[in-house]
Amino acid sequence: MDSEAGATVTICEDGPLLVRGTFSVVTQDGAVIEPGRATVALCRCGASATKPFCDGSHKVIGFRAAGEPDPPG
Ligand code: FES
Repeated sequence: MDSEAGATVTICEDGPLLVRGTFSVVTQDGAVIEPGRATVALCRCGASATKPFCDGSHKVIGFRAAGEPDPPG
């Protein structure tokens, strides 16, 4: 994928979603959240104190999830 054309989201085993490329993080009302860096880690465990960003809490709670999509069904 051409990084200038969009973003890449990487599913991290037992961890966050890493987003790289050209993207915006916005609230449901459209307000832009400045991540302060070019690559962001989005929490998918629900335990972060800095949602929507990962703060490493997934390690503390022992979050487990595959680094691949769940099979359909
Ligand atoms: S995925 Fe890292 S704190 Fe939730």
